[in-house]
Amino acid sequence: MKSVTVKSPATVSNLCCGFDILGMAVCEPFDIMQLSLTDQPGIMIDHTDKYRLPVNADENIAGVALKAFLSAIDYKEGCQLVINKQIKPGSGVGSSAASAAGIVVAANELLGKPFSKKQLVSFAMEGEVIASGSRHADNIAPCIYGGLVLIRDTASLDIIQLDAPELFVTIVHPQIEIKTSYARSILPKEIPLKSAVIQWANVAGLVTGFLQKDYGLIGRSLEDVIIEPVRSKLIPGFDEVKQKCLAAGALGGGISGSGPSLFMLSTSAMVATEIENCMKAVYEKLGIEHKTYITGINNEGIKIIS
Ligand code: HSE
Repeated sequence: MKSVTVKSPATVSNLCCGFDILGMAVCEPFDIMQLSLTDQPGIMIDHTDKYRLPVNADENIAGVALKAFLSAIDYKEGCQLVINKQIKPGSGVGSSAASAAGIVVAANELLGKPFSKKQLVSFAMEGEVIASGSRHADNIAPCIYGGLVLIRDTASLDIIQLDAPELFVTIVHPQIEIKTSYARSILPKEIPLKSAVIQWANVAGLVTGFLQKDYGLIGRSLEDVIIEPVRSKLIPGFDEVKQKCLAAGALGGGISGSGPSLFMLSTSAMVATEIENCMKAVYEKLGIEHKTYITGINNEGIKIIS
């Protein structure tokens, strides 16, 4: 049986000021997915993890993305998909994107690479829609392209990979679930011009900071005056974690994607560990189960491992 196995990484989207337009792939955590071609028509899905996600392809994020891919090449045979998710659904580090993007990259590899990365993003977004109720590519694009990515225009998928200096990324995932669809539904539909000016200045500053490897500018630009004030209320301990991590030397950080995970950037392993300790201390005090990662930017994105 022909089969391909991929490692599909977590992603940190928004990067504070860049709601829906900035994201980066990280080295950990990641999902493992195996796709095989079978003679029997239809898509069979097996999970080897604990999350009990749907096995019906029309209700499964990877299944929906795979169907979009297969219908574009008029593929009539069958597929078997074995998913081992390590990225908890609803964690804010691109769990649904890892499923949707991982499977289309595996299918592309298995079926002779008929599509470009940009086309793969488009198929994967079909899966992302069922998870979040909206078409956004700030997790899927970095997952497929690797590294740090700007989506200048989502409709035409104008995707730009950005250079970034070496950075340590510390992530804490308090074990509560926030559905992206809900976290989007509470956002304001209109924003004051004054806030928009601050936000787009920060986006420009952050991109410039990455390109010029200017850590001070990166830190000053990791500010979100529009989304964070609304969503941070859903995350216990948010203000304390942020304040303690900044005091410990973080360049900056905030909510990863739609939360509840928080991320902080830093320039040394020592500071990244200090940050992790601060995150753990807050959630231990609050009695909230949590998981932490010290990781870095994953410039490769999804990797074919066999
Ligand atoms: N940009 C998206 C959001 C990422 O913040 O809603 C979540 O998938």
